[in-house]
Amino acid sequence: MDAGKSEGKRQRAKGKSTETPRFLHKSQGSLRSTRPAVASLLAAAEAELTAHGISTPRLDAEVLLAHALEVDRAGLYARLYDPLPPGRVAAFHRLLARRARHEPLQYLTGVQEFWSLAFRVDQRVLIPRPETEVVVETALRLLGKVENFCSLLHAPRSYAPRAGRVRLLDIGTGSGCIAIALATELSQAEVWAVDTSRDALAVARENAERHRVAGRIRFLHGNLFTPLAGEEGGFDLIVSNPPYIARDDLAALQPEVQDWEPRSALAGGVDGLDFYRRLLSEGPAYLRSGGWLVMEMGQGQGSEVLRLIGERRDLSAGSGVLDYAGRERVAVARKGATRVG
Ligand SMILES: C[S@@+](CC[C@H](N)C(=O)[O-])C[C@H]1O[C@@H](n2cnc3c(N)ncnc32)[C@H](O)[C@@H]1O
Repeated sequence: MDAGKSEGKRQRAKGKSTETPRFLHKSQGSLRSTRPAVASLLAAAEAELTAHGISTPRLDAEVLLAHALEVDRAGLYARLYDPLPPGRVAAFHRLLARRARHEPLQYLTGVQEFWSLAFRVDQRVLIPRPETEVVVETALRLLGKVENFCSLLHAPRSYAPRAGRVRLLDIGTGSGCIAIALATELSQAEVWAVDTSRDALAVARENAERHRVAGRIRFLHGNLFTPLAGEEGGFDLIVSNPPYIARDDLAALQPEVQDWEPRSALAGGVDGLDFYRRLLSEGPAYLRSGGWLVMEMGQGQGSEVLRLIGERRDLSAGSGVLDYAGRERVAVARKGATRVG
């Protein structure tokens, strides 16, 4: 790519000027630059990222330099005047070039926090979003584990699951963030997690091991409920953050999402509702009577998803749960005749 080549030249020129300071003086027994190497690198990187249309150039430059130096961001400022090893500077420039092509920061650092847990992420999985924590909160509340989340003021009341192990199912597990967060909170729960992507399942397994819940999560490869033959009526709660972007909206996504995150994690059919139709028609068979279906929704999809729930005779009418921005984010339905709420 031509832009990449010229960018590479610019990067090398910048790297050279920062690593060959014009003025050196003796200080505390070592040669030090009059301009902090870290500050020079960050200024150049910020300008570079700005030129490529990155919306948070300074922050991203700091995160990437900290990552390359294996320190946290505060650690950068503790090293302002330290000479930087050339290998680390080269690694930083490689990361910067990737970020300039709008590769998400989380794929470059390899980590995203979710539910206060560090999840390994790369191009094989969707990056967990903060609003998806509302799915976890809702599930915990429904299972009687949590009472006081303000975002759940409109959620149905909790209920006591049947005696014995709670059985949970996560459809479209991706990085495993929902399944793993629930498993860490519910030490007695048995969790099943399904995805069509073997690559995603490999990442999810790694995350489950990292958080020491791999022994309680079964990862299954397959299309929605197909790998669950024989498990009908066996789950207390099904959660899903399905692909929900409508076909015509895919092209309008920011480049970080559109060009880098897995298409199979995004595309929800012509109107974005394909997966809700399937979850609602196939899911109830896998719930025990009184069990819950908890689904994340895209912005503006609340009324349509709740209408789809309302069409089901085997589910009680749905209710929506708000996210921190006050948007209807999660739909809840219950197997059985009793109305939710
Ligand atoms: C929006 S992502 C959600 C990932 C993760 N649960 C999260 O909340 O970050 C949707 C996931 O569903 C998976 N998926 C897509 N179609 C599927 C299908 N037919 N059956 C099972 N999983 C599917 C994708 O591979 C992707 O990992």
